[in-house]
Amino acid sequence: MNVATGIVFVFVRSLIVTVSVEGVEPSQCIAPLGMENGLIKDTDITASSSFDHGNVGPHHGRIRNEINGGAWCPSTQATPETKEWIEIDLHTVHMITATETQGRFGNGQGVEFAESYMLEYYRPRLNKWIRYRTKTNGELLKGNINTYLEFKTMLDPPIWASKIRFLPYSSHKRTVCMRVEVYGCKWSDGIVSYSMPQGDRKGNSWEFYDFTYDGHWDGEKLKYGLGQLTDGQKAPDDFKLSFHQEDTQGWVGWRNDTRDNKPVEVTFEFDKIREFTAVHIYTNNQFTKEVQVFSTAKIFFSVGGKRYKGEPITYDSFEDRIIESPRNVSVKLHHRVGRFVKLQLYFASRWILISEITFESSPVSGNFTEEEEQLDNTIQEKKKVTVKGDNNKNVISAVNNQQGIGQYLGIIVGVFTVLVLFMVAIVVYVLVQQRRYKSSPRPSQIPDKAALYRTPSLGHLTTTSSDYADYAVPLQRSQQPPRTPPDPLHFFPKPPLIPPPSEQYYAATDVCKPQFTPPPPPLSTPPPVRLQRQPRYVSGKPYIGP
Ligand SMILES: *[C@@H]1O[C@H](CO)[C@@H](O)[C@H](O)[C@H]1NC(C)=O
Ligand SMILES: *[C@@H]1O[C@H](CO)[C@@H](O)[C@H](O)[C@H]1NC(C)=O
Ligand SMILES: *[C@@H]1O[C@H](CO)[C@@H](O)[C@H](O)[C@H]1NC(C)=O
Repeated sequence: MNVATGIVFVFVRSLIVTVSVEGVEPSQCIAPLGMENGLIKDTDITASSSFDHGNVGPHHGRIRNEINGGAWCPSTQATPETKEWIEIDLHTVHMITATETQGRFGNGQGVEFAESYMLEYYRPRLNKWIRYRTKTNGELLKGNINTYLEFKTMLDPPIWASKIRFLPYSSHKRTVCMRVEVYGCKWSDGIVSYSMPQGDRKGNSWEFYDFTYDGHWDGEKLKYGLGQLTDGQKAPDDFKLSFHQEDTQGWVGWRNDTRDNKPVEVTFEFDKIREFTAVHIYTNNQFTKEVQVFSTAKIFFSVGGKRYKGEPITYDSFEDRIIESPRNVSVKLHHRVGRFVKLQLYFASRWILISEITFESSPVSGNFTEEEEQLDNTIQEKKKVTVKGDNNKNVISAVNNQQGIGQYLGIIVGVFTVLVLFMVAIVVYVLVQQRRYKSSPRPSQIPDKAALYRTPSLGHLTTTSSDYADYAVPLQRSQQPPRTPPDPLHFFPKPPLIPPPSEQYYAATDVCKPQFTPPPPPLSTPPPVRLQRQPRYVSGKPYIGP
């Protein structure tokens, strides 16, 4: 029963989820996040210090607002060394694409503003504060030139953060006050981080590094961060350009011989378990410069992130040695489910260059692990028992084992079920036909039978219990098998097939009669069989099936 519900669940889910696909389009991710309009609450605005909390506390640091002192002012003056900040807590990870600042006008009384400032941001996955750097590696952002004009800066690269700090900066000692706003949107892509080997150098002139990656580098791999692959910005068609113009870097590249021609592995971690419909990999194909689209991509899924079980999705790209322009290679992910997705990209040439990787996915609603456990219980009991002794993490990744298998199993078992039902339907149909043939000289039997079946519902129920037992069971049984025969007949509109096959099948059944001996008796003498089954049913034993 569990398997069945599991299968149904998998089927139904794969039908439903296709509709909603979330994603962040950077050009649309430009809404003010709520300093000016109050969407961000006072309690979510804090500061390192305030000159006078009631008058110029952090909650007054809202752009285009004039309340009390009319801005946030730290208690110390800004110098190149000071680290005063005003912090906004957005609670969930947002993609922040712009910031805006303003000084303290204070109804004409204010004289303070910050000529420049820095940003720091926090993301749970990083678990630390990171100083923001622009693509040109600058930390200082342009601030204001007077107390009333706002200045807005587009952030390139964008910031993914749940908290952000503005740090007023001044090369000489000066009193500063700030009002701020942040622009962006919720990061609904759900990518928490990606990890991969850092890119390689090409000669002395090109470095295909992920320059904006903000996670850790353990000497071998980049971890826990986000960077160029998710910033929504396409690199220029010609990778050489990206180094003539400093601010248009964008290709991350790997060379085949730095890793013994092993595939490049990029692993994405998502916020929750998701169902994936596609991945788009924006990749370079300047084959004359030994850069080519990967020959094969293998895509693995995992719930826990430790074990990637189940068949990977394999995508073979066709080799294009005609057109050099970069392309968006899209791979369908067939509703595979996981929280971690690992891409293995195989070399077709000396270099693979990637600029962007985007996923189409949507969170899987419902208790997914529970469903896995159902499959677990019934199909892989042994495995589960051994896993239970381990710690929690292992349980999660073990659940993930059944992930891929489970889904395939669901499909395979489902297909088999349909096949079996179909064959049963055919057999039943053939037998019915057979019987009709036999009984065709006595057409009176059919109306008789119909009458028999109808009697119970006509009120015999209360009167004769013995008769009722005879009739009631056929009625109950009739709910099971009759459901199957009509289906194929209606679903497969091949009426011409029906009359001739009955003869053929008839002959066929004669040939292998020994096998078919059991079924014919129930048809020729239906009541006895039903009676045989009836006590079992009545005796209260669980109904196992026909
Ligand atoms: C690749 O194609 C997908 C789907 O059309 C799109 O969402 C994505 O933005 C494209 N990526 C790039 C870098 O063009
Ligand atoms: C790397 O690619 C080049 C060009 O396709 C090829 O000649 C070379 O053998 C490859 N190196 C390795 C280690 O496979
Ligand atoms: C999902 O199922 C597990 C195991 O049965 C249970 O512990 C957990 O509370 C459930 N979660 C939700 C959100 O229902």
